[in-house]
Amino acid sequence: MFVAANWKMNLDKKLIFEFSKHLNTFKFSSKVEACIFPPMTYVDYLNSLISNLPISVGGQNCHYKKSGAYTGEVSPLFLKDTGCKYVIIGHSERRILNHETNDEIKLRAQSAINSNLKVVLCVGESLIDHEKGSALKFVEEQLLESLPNNFENLLIAYEPIWSIGTGKIPSVNDIEDMHQHIKKFIFEKTNKKVKVLYGGSVNLENINNILNIVNVDGVLIGGSSLNVKDFLAIYSAAVKHLDKF
Ligand code: 13P
Repeated sequence: MFVAANWKMNLDKKLIFEFSKHLNTFKFSSKVEACIFPPMTYVDYLNSLISNLPISVGGQNCHYKKSGAYTGEVSPLFLKDTGCKYVIIGHSERRILNHETNDEIKLRAQSAINSNLKVVLCVGESLIDHEKGSALKFVEEQLLESLPNNFENLLIAYEPIWSIGTGKIPSVNDIEDMHQHIKKFIFEKTNKKVKVLYGGSVNLENINNILNIVNVDGVLIGGSSLNVKDFLAIYSAAVKHLDKF
């Protein structure tokens, strides 16, 4: 089980310091892996504050080239060098605001994997596709075009665009169908099993329902991960969920 915090472009040095104080007094479980994706500029800083804790740190994106004339971009090697274990690739905010295409996302994912980072590859449909009933087809196409050629431990994050930051989440059946579809599709194409996280308006109220859904292997949390108490309460819900079995 994986509980991840995508802080996006939030939390400065002072707030990260405060956040880390709570993390340092919390008892983490070996059953649930926690990972934080801070803003790139604070990867090193966060790592230095939580280096004794069983929490992974990751980058929110990386470039497909390892070095060169790419102003403003971050090399996967630099993420690795600053202690990142994971990287998010293809978040819908990057697809929409930075015009990242499936082709480019595939290159970024492969380059990250080749640099020994574990990739969290994001997919998810728009409201229009959701309402048309074509979400499965849309996500299948995203996967077809953006799955890296070689991978071992890929994580997929299913994040419906219409659910991010809106407080709306798909029905239990829709999440279950989508996660099952993603796993089946990737297995048929590559003979490999992947874990699928759910992301989009995850919070303290809905976490138990989400964790109870078959084929949900964890969550990628945005807004609710900015508050350390909420983040740790969601983490604890995941531990409790596993304790039931
Ligand atoms: P919210 O939890 O704020 O909806 O964000 C989800 C997300 O985009 C995580 O990557």
